[in-house]
Amino acid sequence: MANDLNKREELLGDLQEKYDAIGQDLNTHLSGLLQQEPLTYWDYIQVDALLGLQTKRTVFPDEMVFIMYHQINELIFKMILWEIEQVAHHQALNTTFFAERLLRISRYFDMLTTSFDIMTQGMEVEQYMKFRNSLAPASGFQSAQYRKIEFASTELINLIDARFRETIDRNTPYEHALDHLYWQAAGKDYTTGKKTYLLTAFEKRYRDEFVAFTQEYNTINLAAKFKSLPAEDQKNSELIKAMRHYDYTVNITWVMAHYRTAAKYLNSGSKQAEATGGSAWVKYMHPKYQKRIFFPELWSEKERQNWGHDL
Ligand code: HEM
Repeated sequence: MANDLNKREELLGDLQEKYDAIGQDLNTHLSGLLQQEPLTYWDYIQVDALLGLQTKRTVFPDEMVFIMYHQINELIFKMILWEIEQVAHHQALNTTFFAERLLRISRYFDMLTTSFDIMTQGMEVEQYMKFRNSLAPASGFQSAQYRKIEFASTELINLIDARFRETIDRNTPYEHALDHLYWQAAGKDYTTGKKTYLLTAFEKRYRDEFVAFTQEYNTINLAAKFKSLPAEDQKNSELIKAMRHYDYTVNITWVMAHYRTAAKYLNSGSKQAEATGGSAWVKYMHPKYQKRIFFPELWSEKERQNWGHDL
């Protein structure tokens, strides 16, 4: 009993200090606490708001699978960005923290990869081929969080279309670099070079945000953070393993799960269907063409050359 009272005194003292520091009256806040309703699970998790976000555009039940799985992906992307941010902004980074956070991120991506069967196996082809027309010209290509994960993971140069890498360096303005990112290839008519609606709409909505984001992550992306560690730490085998695993999971395993899904649906008819976003998807999506690698220094020359070849 005496212990409880002492504890309460201590808490009141701490509260007094907290509110004094911001010029607030503690009594007002204690009265507020008295009026508050006890918290419930549904309010805390915001279940009603979350479950109110699924709106089909067609009569097909499987469209719900498509929408919800994309929403789950966006939530997991947010979890990934949350962890990357903590590594990127860490003032005294050490190998244990870095490797542990990378393992968290990899677990999220592993989940996205293994669950991709929900798309490949979990929708009737006939339904998908019909409801997809109602979402054109939208595409997962326009996922801004996916792009941010890439910007925050690696040096910008590794996201530049291989054909233009030599024309771009650290002094190149961000706007120019963004115009030569690998994904521009999916958003341009490759015969005329003109930007498609998919890309124009995406850039109109996110371009400024991407410029600010790439600027922010220029020196604190995961690859840069790794290089800023003491030389000894950069040899830490657990950390290297975690970095390679992350690189492979995002840029090979996830990309291939995605590619196989696209192939299943878009090759299902008598002639190959166009992607809703309109890209030359077969070539665009396969890792062996793009050779996207977040941490090229952590792979041998041979591994880099064979990237995506044995799939
Ligand atoms: C039936 C399921 C799916 C199909 C058929 C499909 C198909 C495609 C195609 C063809 C592209 C190339 C761009 C275009 O022209 O549209 C693309 C890009 C993309 N999709 Fe999907 N997709 C599916 C599911 C998903 C899911 C669940 C996500 C998770 C958010 C996703 C995220 C992306 C991303 C991030 C890109 C850009 C990738 C890059 O630029 O390399 N897709 N998708």
